[in-house]
Amino acid sequence: MISNTVKFLLNDKILEINNPDPNQTILNYIRTELKKTGTKEGCAEGGCGACTVVIGELASGQIKYSAINSCISFVPFLNGKQLLIVEDLVSKNGNLHPVQDAMVKFHGSQCGFCTPGFVMSLFSMFKNNKSYNSELIKDSISGNLCRCTGYRPIIDAAKSLNKINKNDEFSKSKNKIVKLLKRINSKKIYIKNEDKTFFSPKTIKDLKNIIKKNSNFNFLSGGTDLSLKVTKERKEISSIINLKEIKELDFIKINKNYIEVGAATSLTKFENQIKKYYQDFYAVLKRYGSVQIRNVGTIGGNIATASPIGDTLPILLSLNAEILIESPNKRKVLPINNFFIGYRKTKLKKNEFIRSIKIPLFKKNIFKAFKISKRFDDDISSICGSFNFEIKNSKINQAYIAFGGMSAVPKRAKACEAILRNKPLTINTFVKAKDYLEKDLNPIGDMRASKEYRLEVAKNLLIKCFLEMNTKKLTRVI
Ligand SMILES: Cc1cc2nc3c(=O)[nH]c(=O)nc-3n(C[C@H](O)[C@H](O)[C@H](O)COP(=O)(O)OP(=O)(O)OC[C@H]3O[C@@H](n4cnc5c(N)ncnc54)[C@H](O)[C@@H]3O)c2cc1C
Ligand code: FES
Ligand code: FES
Repeated sequence: MISNTVKFLLNDKILEINNPDPNQTILNYIRTELKKTGTKEGCAEGGCGACTVVIGELASGQIKYSAINSCISFVPFLNGKQLLIVEDLVSKNGNLHPVQDAMVKFHGSQCGFCTPGFVMSLFSMFKNNKSYNSELIKDSISGNLCRCTGYRPIIDAAKSLNKINKNDEFSKSKNKIVKLLKRINSKKIYIKNEDKTFFSPKTIKDLKNIIKKNSNFNFLSGGTDLSLKVTKERKEISSIINLKEIKELDFIKINKNYIEVGAATSLTKFENQIKKYYQDFYAVLKRYGSVQIRNVGTIGGNIATASPIGDTLPILLSLNAEILIESPNKRKVLPINNFFIGYRKTKLKKNEFIRSIKIPLFKKNIFKAFKISKRFDDDISSICGSFNFEIKNSKINQAYIAFGGMSAVPKRAKACEAILRNKPLTINTFVKAKDYLEKDLNPIGDMRASKEYRLEVAKNLLIKCFLEMNTKKLTRVI
């Protein structure tokens, strides 16, 4: 059945919005229509966390909580989900939630603008985990910026949660919420609001039918790139096809030769799986945006955006990944190495979507990846370098090297790879090879880094890669 109504839970109440404006952000809806102003707008581009809300969804019969940036998610995203905002954390008899209580006790409430966002990020962490170590705490608030005081009191507040009873009001109402979420179990939706349309199919079959009957649409996955057209460029997106509700696009399959990831799989889900195979892929993902961004952003969206500084792209290039592309009548497989054709341009045709990405699991390789950015967390790369070597008898049998931020497209360094092939694994080999990067790469200078800095750092990353391989020690900033 098709519906034009977005049906969701606001905490424990079912709300329905008929034919909403599909370009309205959740933040705008909360502040202007629910008239709840605890959730703030800082940047309107996913970068500060002031607008953080928590989404509850059913996963294997349990409620999974995710912090998201409400400033860059559109209202139809709420369909079938629970929305929790900072006002909902206070219990019906007026008691602060343990997370709020800890923020008060440890003086973590530093300014009224950022505190609600910090509270919501910590609430999501509190609900999804049993204990909270420094790494988890820092990751959980990596998308919440404070420019006035610092993070210590907030981290102290988060650490104190280890000592308290985990049963809060939300634990008590869990069964009721599970029942309600099952009851509103989302239908596929089709919204037509004046000249804007929003389709949210549930299956690939439905998706293909919608593609056949429409033109000039935009696919929407996590929206962490697309939504900025509305919030930053002040443009309208007239026709959206949402891919996020299609279960067939949200999966991770692993066999002995490759890991296949559905295009609409969130980066958060993916990072936990890839960790077992490529530790540095995981390390780069941990510095990709923030938890809020990775909870919705997808690997398919990152590839289709084709940004020269997209973090997964140099990694997927050096791992020789393949992209499965589909249209209503066709299926094809393209090596990612043939996919990017110009600045933010790919071989995707208008009616084609990415179905999945296959990442080979190399048997005997050394893989390393490094992200260089001005800030450790929640920052876009100036340079991202990815190195994949197959070594035989102390010689480099194969070298696959790729960089982001070093040309108009994420790019393999083929001249450098060629000079490394069949050479001994020595510092001299690498010192000689690093100058070949000048043949491969032609970076620009911009506000993130100058051309000269980028080239120098790319060369240094190659040397760093050798040093780490040679000493079997990591030289990382943590
Ligand atoms: C605050 C912030 C921080 C960020 N940090 C980083 C970072 O550290 N590293 C980084 O690489 N990026 C970063 N980004 C950029 C952004 O997260 C990526 O571009 C993201 O991967 C896009 O994925 P998405 O699912 O959100 O795509 P969407 O925004 O939904 O879509 C992006 C584009 O891809 C198309 N598309 C989406 N899915 C498909 C599909 N399956 N088939 C065909 N086309 C498709 C859409 O039509 C659209 O044109 C950041 C963005 C923000 C706002
Ligand atoms: S307002 Fe800054 S992340 Fe949303
Ligand atoms: S808490 Fe708002 S700027 Fe520091």
